[in-house]
Amino acid sequence: MSYKNILSDINNGITTITINRPKKLNALNKETIEELHKAFEIANKDKACKVIILTGRGDKAFVAGADISEFADFNAKQGSELAKMGQDLLFDFVENLSTPVIAAVNGFALGGGLELAMACHFRIASDNARLGLPEVSLGVIPGYGGTQRLPQLIGKGRAMELIMTAGMIDATQALNYGLVNHVTSQEKLVSFCEDKASKISRNSSVAISAAIKAINANYKDGINGFDEEIKAFGHCFGTADFIEGTTAFLEKRKADFPGE
Ligand code: COA
Repeated sequence: MSYKNILSDINNGITTITINRPKKLNALNKETIEELHKAFEIANKDKACKVIILTGRGDKAFVAGADISEFADFNAKQGSELAKMGQDLLFDFVENLSTPVIAAVNGFALGGGLELAMACHFRIASDNARLGLPEVSLGVIPGYGGTQRLPQLIGKGRAMELIMTAGMIDATQALNYGLVNHVTSQEKLVSFCEDKASKISRNSSVAISAAIKAINANYKDGINGFDEEIKAFGHCFGTADFIEGTTAFLEKRKADFPGE
C-alpha cells in the first residue's frame, strides 16, 4: 500500500510507521490521520507483525501538533467533529490495538503529537525531544485525549501545570515525569526501539494482547479492571502459546510461540 503522508515498512516482525511531512514538522492533517489509521489497521492484522514503531521523518519533529491551518476557521460543531474523528480513527484506535506500539519521539512532540505519543503503549525519546500541550496558547484545549492521558501518565498537578502554561519540557524532564521510559541520542533512537521491539516479539503475542487489554481496562469508565484481568488470565490457558510457553519451560528450552 502506498501513502502520501506516511511510510510503512516491515522488517524482522517490526513494522515502522513514519509520519512523512517534515516540511510541516509532521503536523497531523486529516489525510495523515486517515492514512495512519489504515497503516495501523493493516499492521495489526498482519500476523508477521509483532510490534509497531511510530516515528516522525527528519531530525526535528516527531509531530508538531494537529495541522493548525486546517482548523483555524472551524466553528464549535466542526471543532467537536474534528476531535471525535481523530479520537475514533487514530488515538483511541492505537491505544486499543492488540499489537504493541512504541512511540520513537525523535524531536518536537507538541499538541496532537504528544497526544499521539501518549496513545502509544510506551514512549522512548531522543535527547533533543521537546514535549508539551500548547493548545491553550491557541485558544483551545487538547482534543485528542490529552486532558485524559497526560494526568494518567504524569499525575494531575503536573498535567494541570503543563497544559495551563502551554510550556514544553525537555527529554530529561519527560523521563523524570515518567512520560517517556528511556532517552537516547537521536542516532541511536531507532535501534534502541528495535532492540526493545525484538525483546517483546520473542514473547507470546497472544498474552501480550491480553495484557494490553487488561491494563487499558483500568482506565475505562464502568469496567472493572480486576474482573477483566481474571477473564484475560483464564483465556490465556486455552491458547497454544500457553501450552508452548509452559512446555518449553519444563523442557528447559526457549519457547517458540505460534502466536495463537
Ligand atoms: N500545524 C501546521 N503547520 C505547522 C505546525 C502545526 N501544528 N507546526 C509547524 N508547522 C509548520 C510551520 O507553519 C512551518 O511551515 P512554513 O515553512 O510553510 O511556514 C513549518 O512547519 C516549520 O515550522 P516553524 O514554525 O517555521 O519551525 P520553528 O523551528 O521556527 O518552530 C515549533 C518549531 C514547533 C516551535 C513551531 O513550529 C510551533 O510552535 N508549531 C506549532 C505547535 C503547536 O502549537 N501545536 C499544537 C497545535 S494544536
